[in-house]
Amino acid sequence: CRVHQWDSEEPVPRAELLAGVAGKRGLLCLLSDRIDREVLEAAGPSLKVISTMSVGFDHLALDEIKKRGIRVGYTPDVLTDATAELSVALLLATSRRLPEAVEQVKNGGWTTWKPLWMCGYGLSDSTVGIIGLGRIGQAVARRLKPFGVKKFLYSGSRPKPENATEFAAEFVPLTRLAEESDFIVVTCALTPATQGMCNKDFFARMKKTSVFINTSRGAVVNQEDLYDALTQGQIAAAGLDVTTPEPLPTDHPLLSLKNCVILPHIGSATYATRSTMAVLAANNLLAGLRGEPMPHELQL
Ligand code: NDP
Ligand code: DGY
Repeated sequence: CRVHQWDSEEPVPRAELLAGVAGKRGLLCLLSDRIDREVLEAAGPSLKVISTMSVGFDHLALDEIKKRGIRVGYTPDVLTDATAELSVALLLATSRRLPEAVEQVKNGGWTTWKPLWMCGYGLSDSTVGIIGLGRIGQAVARRLKPFGVKKFLYSGSRPKPENATEFAAEFVPLTRLAEESDFIVVTCALTPATQGMCNKDFFARMKKTSVFINTSRGAVVNQEDLYDALTQGQIAAAGLDVTTPEPLPTDHPLLSLKNCVILPHIGSATYATRSTMAVLAANNLLAGLRGEPMPHELQL
C-alpha cells in the first residue's frame, strides 16, 4: 500500500483530513475523527473501506457510508477487559472518594482518624444496575460480582437471557433500574435512542445514596441535569470516563464538584490493548482493501 499518514498523536485537523482523504481507497480513523458526508464526498468514489481504531462507531455516518457501499471495520472484544477494569476502578474511586481522600492527605486535611470522615458507599449487599449488558457490561458485572453484589439489574432494547443468566441479572425498564440501583454503570452504545437518556427524570428517580458511572459516551448523559443532581443531593456521586465535549473545558462546572470524578476517556488505555487495537484496525483495513472478510467487520 501507499500510505498517506497523519503522523501525530494529536487529531488530524479537519482541513488536512478533507484534503488527505481525496482519492484514497481506504481510511483508518480514530473515534475523534467525525466521518460524515463531507469527508465521504471529499474522498470521492474511490473510498471502499473505513477502519476505526475503536469499538464505538457513533462518529461514523453509517447511513451515508452504507449508501456508498463502503465497508467498515472496528475493534470489538480486544478492549473489553481493559474497559471493564477501568469501569470498576472508576466506580471504586468514586464511591470510596479516592481522589478527594488523596487530596486531603496532600493538603493537610487529614488531621486524625474520625469515625465518619471520608465515608463512602460499598458494593457489599448492593444492587447494581447496568445500562447495556453487552460485551463491556457483562465484563463489568463479572468483575463486580465477587465484591458481594446482591442483585444485578439491566436495561437495553430487549432482554438478553444469554448475557444475563451468569449474573442472574433481571431485565427492567430504565425507570426501575434508576429507582432500585445503588450503583449504575452505563456501558451502552451511543445511538439516537440512548442520546441524553440519563436526564433530569432519570436522576430524580435515583436514590440519594446512589453512585452513577459512565464509561460509554458522554452524550448518553445530559450533563446539566447531572450537575443539578450532584449539587442538589439527588444522587451521591458520579464517575465519568467520557464527557461532552472531549476534552472537557478546565472551567467546566462539573470539575468543581468533589462528588464528581472525571477521567480523560482512558477506558481502553493499557499498552497491550491499544497495541492490539491498532493491529486489528490495520488488519481490518488490509482485508477490506483486498476484498477479503475482515477480522471484525461492522454489519451495516
Ligand atoms: P456492545 O455492542 O457489546 O454493547 C452495547 C450495548 O448497548 C448492548 O448490550 C445494547 O443492548 C446496549 N444498548 C443499545 N441500545 C440501548 C438502549 N436503548 N438502552 C440500553 N442499552 C442499549 O458494545 P461494547 O460493550 O463492546 O461497547 C459498548 C460501548 O462502550 C461502545 O459503543 C463505546 O461507545 C463504549 N466504549 C468506551 C470506552 C472507553 O474508553 N470509555 C472503551 C470501549 C467502548 P441491546 O443489544 O439490548 O440493544
Ligand atoms: C472505543 O473503542 O469506542 C473507546 O471509546 C476507546 O477505546
